[in-house]
Amino acid sequence: MAEQIETLLKTGRIIEPTSQTKAQAHIQDYEKAYARSIEDPEQFWDGIAKELDWFSPWEKVLEWNYPWAKWFVGGTCNITYNCLDRHVQSWRKNKVAVIWVGEEGQERIFTYAELYRQVNKCANALKGLGLKQGDRVTIYLPKIPEQIVAMLACARIGLIHSVVYSGFSAPALESRIKDCGSRLVITADVGYDRGKSLNLKQVVDEAVARCPSVEHTIVVRREQPGVPLAQPKELDWETWVEGCSPVCEAEPLDAETPLYFLYTSGTTGKPKGVVHVHGGYMVGTYITSKYVFDLKDDDIYFCVADPGWVTGHSYIVYGPLLNGATILTAEGKPNYPTPGRWWELIARYSVSIFYTTPTAIRLLMKYGEEWPAKSDLSSLRILGSVGEPINPEAWEWFHRVAGGDKPIMDTWWQTETGMILVTPLPSVPLKPGSATRPFLGIEADVVDKEGNSVGTGGGFAVIKKPWPSMMRTIYKDPERYTTYWNTIPGCYTAGDVCHKDEDGYFWFMGRADDVVKVAGNRIGTAEVESALVSHDAVVEAAVIGKPHATAGEMIKAFVILKEGQTETSDMIKHLQAHVLQELGKIAVPKEIDIVTSLPKTRSGKIMRRVLKAKELGQDPGDISTLEE
Ligand code: WTA
Repeated sequence: MAEQIETLLKTGRIIEPTSQTKAQAHIQDYEKAYARSIEDPEQFWDGIAKELDWFSPWEKVLEWNYPWAKWFVGGTCNITYNCLDRHVQSWRKNKVAVIWVGEEGQERIFTYAELYRQVNKCANALKGLGLKQGDRVTIYLPKIPEQIVAMLACARIGLIHSVVYSGFSAPALESRIKDCGSRLVITADVGYDRGKSLNLKQVVDEAVARCPSVEHTIVVRREQPGVPLAQPKELDWETWVEGCSPVCEAEPLDAETPLYFLYTSGTTGKPKGVVHVHGGYMVGTYITSKYVFDLKDDDIYFCVADPGWVTGHSYIVYGPLLNGATILTAEGKPNYPTPGRWWELIARYSVSIFYTTPTAIRLLMKYGEEWPAKSDLSSLRILGSVGEPINPEAWEWFHRVAGGDKPIMDTWWQTETGMILVTPLPSVPLKPGSATRPFLGIEADVVDKEGNSVGTGGGFAVIKKPWPSMMRTIYKDPERYTTYWNTIPGCYTAGDVCHKDEDGYFWFMGRADDVVKVAGNRIGTAEVESALVSHDAVVEAAVIGKPHATAGEMIKAFVILKEGQTETSDMIKHLQAHVLQELGKIAVPKEIDIVTSLPKTRSGKIMRRVLKAKELGQDPGDISTLEE
């Protein structure tokens, strides 16, 4: 660990903001603004919340019943009112809200007025199915505009959406539908990936067959001839919304009304349904989008995430729409049809804000600088990175190819935090590889196991006070929620190891718990292990994350076979195919070793840390609890 900290810190370059960046930034003096914000965080958040529209005001900014928080208590609002109505009632009515580009360059454009109509029609169609406030809807769609429309339509009438990334397999989808008992699933016939079509409808059919709570499945049909539907349970999206009224008032909701569940990996096999609510989440995503990306009305904002992950929720859909921004979103991979794909989109649409991931940057680095050089990137103004630590090499490359003078916002946050918490603002001096400093109103620190601040040095990243867009609970598992606030006394533990330098800059270094970050996505080792163990030939499995040049980390598995099973090269392929079937591509171990024993504690817990140290040729540290 110590070694890793040093290599990161050695780069030591400090990049001051250009005078132009600073002059136009919403926040020009971070130090002053930050100091003021944490003098009285509740007052700070109160002021931000007042920038948005509420149906009725709150009586209290925060009710803090450790570790349970309620924000804007007694206030009523609807996040979609602020995403849509507010703009439709202003000059932004005919401003472009969403530009969508398909893999082959197809384009669909929605103004705020058009998005508003589409969302209202869909909300009325949802009502038509008898869905009521608090009901859950699973959205299993590729990255197409209907995904955004469906999310907003649910929120508009108080339904709770659960977006599941469309790369997940049937069993993974099934468990996510079952956990929240969705009454409706919205899907598409296919998604496209590098020119190939992926049969999503088939995945849904398989999952829904085992989910009795699902009453209807809506299918967006993209291919000709249309995939057959088993009516009346399965309905075609177009027919379903056709004829519905384009007017549907946003339901006034208590600020604490759940907006969505989003399943994320943790240390046990079962994914956690993180719960976010209308009021606080709205305030947090609104202001971080505005200040971090310095969002202005003439910006074209391009975020490459998929709404299946939290980044898509907060920084494709809600945060930018709350600000009345123009959002570019594109289906497909960064290197298809060519590695120039994103750079061409930036030039074609004059993108000014570009929010991407370290894993994508590392992938594009492999194709060389000639690809970005082919496109005119001069419209770029602010760059962003999220999902995992960005290594200084990737940081420098990104910075250079984008023109050498555009600041990179390395934004640190989590599904659970809802909004960006540690990040530069455009006016803050940057250090490549560091997420720099806490956002306004956020008290973050690096502490030891007892919760003592390390001052300068390495430890665990924590947040010391509640913030508006924090998750409210884990669905049906409040105890798992409380562990976030009980692991280290008095604060929220993020589960990340971090180093704080003498300037108070944060250098995040990865997860402390058993979670692997593959291409920026959190995969619970336990979920992969249980998928492996569900194979007939396997008795036991342990999974670790191993550094990987482009994906950040890759999954490596160690498995013990049942008596009588022999190791063959086919066996490894078999096991990989099995995980693909159970969980989806993203969770497939790149390497599998067949072993005869695994390091365990006396109480039988697998010590993944020991496996990892051995794999990487490092010192395993304290092994006194090791059985053998
Ligand atoms: C990691 C993604 C370093 C971290 C928004 C965190 C990062 C986990 C960064 C959350 C960053 C995210 N620098 N690490 N800028 N951003 N992480 O829930 O380990 O998919 O705990 O949310 O990603 O992953 P999640």
